[in-house]
Amino acid sequence: MRLLTILFTAVCLFPLALKAQQKIYLDELDLSRSSSGWKVPQMRKAVDYDTIRIYGKRYSRGVGTHATSKMEIWLDGKVKRFYTEVGVDDKVAKAAKEGKHLGEVAFTILADGQRVYYSDTVRANEPARKVDLNLTGVSRLIMYADQLGPSHHDHIDYADAYFEYEGTPPYAAMETSELPYILTPLPLNAPQYNGAARYGVSPGKPILIKLAVSGKEPLQIKPTKLPRGLKLDAAARCIRGSISQKGKQTLLLEASNKFGKQAFSFDIVVGDTLQLTPPMGWNSWNCWGMEVSAKSIKQVAESFSKFGLDKYGWSYINIDDGWQGERDASGKITTNAKFPDMKKLADSVHGMGYKIGIYSSPGEKTCGGLPGSFGFESNDAKTYADWGMDYLKYDWCSYKEKVGKNATAQQHIDAYKKISNALKATDRDIVLSLCQYGEQNVEKWGSQAGGSLWRTTGDIIDTWESVDQIINLQNHTQPYAGPGRYNDPDMLVVGQLGWSSKIRATRLTPSEQYTHITMWSVLAAPLLLGCDLTKLDPFTLNLITNREVNAINQDVLGKQAVRVFQDTVAFPFAQKNFWEVWKKPLANGEYALAIINRGYDGGTFTLRPSKAGLKSISKLRDCWRQKDLSFKTELDIDIPPHGSYLLRVRE
Ligand code: GLA
Repeated sequence: MRLLTILFTAVCLFPLALKAQQKIYLDELDLSRSSSGWKVPQMRKAVDYDTIRIYGKRYSRGVGTHATSKMEIWLDGKVKRFYTEVGVDDKVAKAAKEGKHLGEVAFTILADGQRVYYSDTVRANEPARKVDLNLTGVSRLIMYADQLGPSHHDHIDYADAYFEYEGTPPYAAMETSELPYILTPLPLNAPQYNGAARYGVSPGKPILIKLAVSGKEPLQIKPTKLPRGLKLDAAARCIRGSISQKGKQTLLLEASNKFGKQAFSFDIVVGDTLQLTPPMGWNSWNCWGMEVSAKSIKQVAESFSKFGLDKYGWSYINIDDGWQGERDASGKITTNAKFPDMKKLADSVHGMGYKIGIYSSPGEKTCGGLPGSFGFESNDAKTYADWGMDYLKYDWCSYKEKVGKNATAQQHIDAYKKISNALKATDRDIVLSLCQYGEQNVEKWGSQAGGSLWRTTGDIIDTWESVDQIINLQNHTQPYAGPGRYNDPDMLVVGQLGWSSKIRATRLTPSEQYTHITMWSVLAAPLLLGCDLTKLDPFTLNLITNREVNAINQDVLGKQAVRVFQDTVAFPFAQKNFWEVWKKPLANGEYALAIINRGYDGGTFTLRPSKAGLKSISKLRDCWRQKDLSFKTELDIDIPPHGSYLLRVRE
């Protein structure tokens, strides 16, 4: 009888139980596609894998992530309540107290596009804010954490976060909705020169310049006037030789095919400055990480030629961390088994007309834990020169153990000068790229330390939050850029990436990729691809072979763009539209303008001269679409979320 009563009660209450409120924690959702400026959101842990802690309170549930970041959750009208505590993780607290990193962020929550929560500035060492929202009927929830201020070390937590729902549980958005769209028109059949107008070399050192000429094959290049000491290698389409006299020399050449002839010229300036325009090429890190091998480098060189990247100025092929073996008894660095013969590899890359780069560190170990150059700087510089290297990326990582976490600018300069002097003493030009993540205002002394370029931020990843936050950190470095000295906002994250052999498509939307290339172009940033070129898709190829866009990056004035317009409300970034205009002066008196939509919705930007810091606009060209636009007093431009326009204007 008792059993029957229990059964009866259970059957009667079953439909009610189905409708009852259920609870699911945010950390139970699959947030792997959520976008964060650093790493990926961590479940029941802070973003650095430690316990979630805000203002001394420990939380066993919650999600640790980073500002900036975005989480998009579909609720389908089933969620009644969302509860979370938000704050800056205590990991940032110490650094914030020392005034090192601000740890200042803002949390914004949008329910179906309406802002339902905004925290205002939240700082490290503050108690968590409690957020308790009634979300009845809401379909889509977006949670933004924006970084305020210049720091990029903002670890944040959604602590104890849960949803109360009825029926089906909420789930995290998985895919980007934008389809690839092609902007760069097809190249002309007739020959066109797309290379830089000026190259810098040292007197008497080997010169190698790949000639960037597009047009239908078969295509011939003939020299019209070459300075003594230089030769055209017609098969590899490059200039080789050396010039011992200091000064400027102009080369005249002619490209022809059955569609026409094109005379072109450029200068070689023999002197003290290398890299008179930003380096353009490829680096192995964002692609294969530590798994790079000689075989893969060979394939990159072949892909450059196969896809015609060389015709648009891409010429460096740089090996990042992962090539080193041990030091031999004489102190000479050796390669590991993946690089059986570095000289042979460099020779073959040179044979095809490309330049080759390598990587090391001033510490005993590189960031990947392999031998660095500490105490062997001259030996290593000589070895790189013997192998035929043209470029060295020199990291920082374990050198911190020598000089401490808070090394002074002078300590940085000393470390980099050691290697730059050693490189200068070799018989090759080896461009030096400093990689110490922008510490101690590197933009102010990077050139003095012997660098041609220097990283200004931490490592990029392929999320909008990472790219956006890097863009936001570039404005103040502008005065220090010029020919032979570039701020480096890190390598490109377009195409197929992986930081390992697990290669996958970038997580940036097509519009975000256009903005990435647009901004790196106006910032006069080094352009180093990091994708698997054997898997180059038509969208990515189109993105990186726009001669007018690349020309803005390669402009010989070497100026970096400055932000000339920003919507009045700068924060939070989580706005429907959030417009910025960046302006880069060009050698011919024109300006490049990048108009970017940092907001989460598409919209119309009305361009007026005043928004570009100009008195008037007499000529306007859309560089991505390679077409002139007519302009009277203003122009409405539609731009998708996180998208951009790149214009060339004359005042
Ligand atoms: C650091 C750099 C990266 C890459 C790795 C290699 O993280 O910032 O670009 O060179 O080291 O270990």
